[in-house]
Amino acid sequence: MLTAPKITALKGKKKLVMLTAYDYLTASYLEKAGVDMVLVGDSLGMVFNGTADTLPVTVEDVIYHTKAVKRGAPNTMIVADMPFMSYQPSVEDALRNAGRIMKQAGPCALKLEGGEEIVPQVKAMIKAGIPVMGHIGLQPQSVKKYGGYPVMGKTPEEVSILLNSAAALENAGVFSIVLEKVRSNAAAAVAKACSVPIIGIGSGADVDGQVLVTHDMLGAFEDFRPAFVKQYEKIAQRSVAAVKSFASDVRKKRFPTKKYFY
Ligand code: KIV
Repeated sequence: MLTAPKITALKGKKKLVMLTAYDYLTASYLEKAGVDMVLVGDSLGMVFNGTADTLPVTVEDVIYHTKAVKRGAPNTMIVADMPFMSYQPSVEDALRNAGRIMKQAGPCALKLEGGEEIVPQVKAMIKAGIPVMGHIGLQPQSVKKYGGYPVMGKTPEEVSILLNSAAALENAGVFSIVLEKVRSNAAAAVAKACSVPIIGIGSGADVDGQVLVTHDMLGAFEDFRPAFVKQYEKIAQRSVAAVKSFASDVRKKRFPTKKYFY
């Protein structure tokens, strides 16, 4: 199984693949397919629970879903998101909540959104023995501050903030950084400047790996579809069609036939 130091060591050697899972079954598919890391993202708020954004997700939610994912992918490195307001207020909050996730869900790495402002939390967590992944560029937990989900890295000032944030996180000891929705030339500059792997989402090809929300790339989540998502399946459409066939068979008395009797 890959570990945080091994992920860092893979920079420049192979493109890393991370996908999200919130449940046992999806996690088992990802492990069978051989992804490098499974992310229990706080996107579970929207994709699993149907909320408008990631803000309502709680530490209890992350613990519950991480337990299920760990059962489904016991041999894959698991990264879990620290939810909104579980680490921003103070180092004490970050340590207490990270400790709860690690103790109750089992060992995993934890991902935090933010740059220089969360360096004290990152350092304290790493000092306590917790592998930490950073998350910069678009930070969905700040959706209310942005008023939406803007593309980042558009101006020289924004690029310089990204470079400073990545350097601050790297110096604090993160093993890898997610870079979300950043212009591809800016993302390439961040990946080049950093010695830890930069895992892009909507940030072009010149980064060290890619992450997507599994339900987006499988075409299972249709509430909205970011332009950077390539759909590899049409699970929602195919599922609705299958359910319609079942309902029609029942109504027209074509199911169950003798084959399905005891
Ligand atoms: O919550 C999530 O799924 C994420 C990915 C989009 C990187 O943070």
